[in-house]
Amino acid sequence: MVFINENYLKLAAGYLFPEIARRVNEYVDANPAVAGRIIRCGIGDVTEPIVPAVLAAMHDAIDDLGSHETFRGYPPPTGYDFLRQAIAEHDYRNRGISISDDEIFVSDGSKGDCGSLLEILGVGNRVAVTDPVYPVYVDTNVMVGNTDEPLDGGGYEGLVTMEGNEANGFVPNPPESPVDLVYLCFPNNPTGSTIDHPRLQAWVDWALENDALIVYDAAYVNFIRDPDLPRSIFEIPGADKCAIETRSFSKNGGFTGIRCGYTVVPKTLEGRTRDGRSVPLHQLWSRRWSTRSNGVSWPVQRGAEALYSAEGLEQTSMLIDHYMTNATLLRGGCEAMGLTVHGGENAPYVWVKCPPGQDSWGMFDRLLKEAQIVTTPGAGFGRCGEGFFRISAFNSRANVEEVVARMKTLV
Ligand code: MLT
Repeated sequence: MVFINENYLKLAAGYLFPEIARRVNEYVDANPAVAGRIIRCGIGDVTEPIVPAVLAAMHDAIDDLGSHETFRGYPPPTGYDFLRQAIAEHDYRNRGISISDDEIFVSDGSKGDCGSLLEILGVGNRVAVTDPVYPVYVDTNVMVGNTDEPLDGGGYEGLVTMEGNEANGFVPNPPESPVDLVYLCFPNNPTGSTIDHPRLQAWVDWALENDALIVYDAAYVNFIRDPDLPRSIFEIPGADKCAIETRSFSKNGGFTGIRCGYTVVPKTLEGRTRDGRSVPLHQLWSRRWSTRSNGVSWPVQRGAEALYSAEGLEQTSMLIDHYMTNATLLRGGCEAMGLTVHGGENAPYVWVKCPPGQDSWGMFDRLLKEAQIVTTPGAGFGRCGEGFFRISAFNSRANVEEVVARMKTLV
């Protein structure tokens, strides 16, 4: 019989969102009469249709596949030049950040990239994550063997957690203990917090001093409204020697189902061998892609390219405005009920403190059973998420208004 990767047996629980779906399904099965009333504000899945510019580009690209002259087979594993160039130009060079086209690696989304990056890093790196945290960073490190057993009350032996709380605005400081790899996500999932230039500079300085690698998940960067906030870690001097950035078209482009994103690995970024030799991570990541993937399909990459056209930019900015207006309504609704609210100003997640005496899963159950609203319990994002719940702003306006109205009857 084949041996298994026993690290999987350390995983404390099922992945958060399937677990929430399981609980919701269980409730609906037991209460079929309310099935039609359920409003899903749990997982941050987009609800609005793909914008016309992207649809048109994808239709054209599908037609390309129907004739000998324009047919495409295998794509380049790390992305077509046209998309890498559009990304590097619009998201970096036009903002004064020096990133070359071949430092962009097009992928099927940042969630996958966050896990796959561990393939080019050695097992046994000391890893630090924030708490609350997007569970993918934790679970993928458990899976490869970078942690020991789960701890009572959350977390894993051997995993450094950096506490985010109301006092630090859910932006923890760098860890005191030595760490090789750290995950940061800003705008933050789940708390909606943001980081400013001085604090991000402090992180970069710390990483350079401590020879640590930062994986910077910027999946929600397009939701930043405040012009003074950094849009990329590569705005910070020195980041090209200590950081990898992942981004996604899922939320700004409505690509949660289409799947496309990218990772930036600067050529100046190095890791080291056990015997002390420096090796560019770019070289390893390129090698990984050429072996492990045949890339992202032609219609999807043409669709992603269209996000950067004049029409695409205008249409997606309306989409983002729609979700951010939802976030404002949700914030206002929660505040009107006397709840303490974080996030939702530069991020599509509203992070709400439970009313006194209520814990995260208790609040989740109450919102589900008394108002048929699905949220995400803060405790699902780590020990420090206990006492909070997350509302996703990815929804129709009518649903958001209904959520606010129903919550008023509750608290
Ligand atoms: C979330 O709800 O946290 C995200 O949608 C999950 C994801 O992007 O994988």
